Amino acid sequence: MHLTTEVLERPEHAQAPAHAAATVRERAPAPSRSIEVPAAQPQIWFDGKFISTDAPEAPLTTHAMHYGTAVFEGIRSYATADGGAAVFRLPEHLERMRKGADMFGIDFDVERAGRAVLDTLRANGHRDAYIRPLTWMGTGSIGLDVDPLSQHLMVATMAKVVHLGGARTRLTVSPWKRNPATSLPPLKLSGAYVNSILAKREAKQRGFDEALFTDDKGYVVECTGANVFMVKNGEVTSVEHRDALPGITRDTMIALSGAASREVTLHELLDADEVFVCGTAAEACAIDVLDRRVFGDNPVTRELSALYAQVVRGQDRGYAHWLTAV
Ligand SMILES: Cc1ncc(COP(=O)(O)O)c(C=O)c1O
Repeated sequence: MHLTTEVLERPEHAQAPAHAAATVRERAPAPSRSIEVPAAQPQIWFDGKFISTDAPEAPLTTHAMHYGTAVFEGIRSYATADGGAAVFRLPEHLERMRKGADMFGIDFDVERAGRAVLDTLRANGHRDAYIRPLTWMGTGSIGLDVDPLSQHLMVATMAKVVHLGGARTRLTVSPWKRNPATSLPPLKLSGAYVNSILAKREAKQRGFDEALFTDDKGYVVECTGANVFMVKNGEVTSVEHRDALPGITRDTMIALSGAASREVTLHELLDADEVFVCGTAAEACAIDVLDRRVFGDNPVTRELSALYAQVVRGQDRGYAHWLTAV
């Protein structure tokens, strides 16, 4: 199947050989034009040019590969009723990414990254998509001083979303603790996600879908890639914790539900009528079990989930300001 996209900036060096890629500087893009894009071969935006998904671009001495010195985002676009698509809360995602990039001294241009996101969606003809920008420290030294290193940015878009998949989720309390904010800021720094990966792996080995982080005092923190909410007697509460990522979906759900945001103990969570977790990839996922606690029906989660689905697809004009047209 071939899709026609309206605008694709494809610089003339789009087919540059792999060995040249690490040193390629962004060049002025060629004039926009309509182009036939094979949907089966997605392109990745890399430092201002499009390359094929499987092109080997990062040298083996890439600093980020050794130390996790990279920052990523997970963003989504949705098909809209007018036949187009829109990215949900793009400026907020890129602003969080900028904060992460600042931690490493990466010069992150929000405007340029925003253009790259939209151009990649257009190039791939993607409407319902998961968007993965990544900025990273490249080559120049293998030491821990990042100043001499090259800096890079890529954007990939994928038609498939990978986290939790909207199904009712089996959750378990992790024996691992979340990275404390006093050691690692709750931002999307790639290296920090080893913590999530260990917890997820351990949970899956015990037959669960997802891990719940709690702190030493018994307060709920978050999941490996999602924030936590509970419903008790019809009241929605969003779990707040300084070690948790300030999720954009969390912020959205608070706005849509009027949820209170406060610290919540594991004991309270187990006593709730409904628990759900949310994130860009997961959207809102009802929790089926939390260790031995089995939750029943989840009408409030269902209702909020349905409202969220309308908002992200532009069906509720009251929230149109959260959408960036592709
Ligand atoms: C650790 C963690 N918590 C929460 C979230 C949810 O954040 P958001 O709603 O901004 O996607 C994510 C997803 O990015 C995450 O990785």
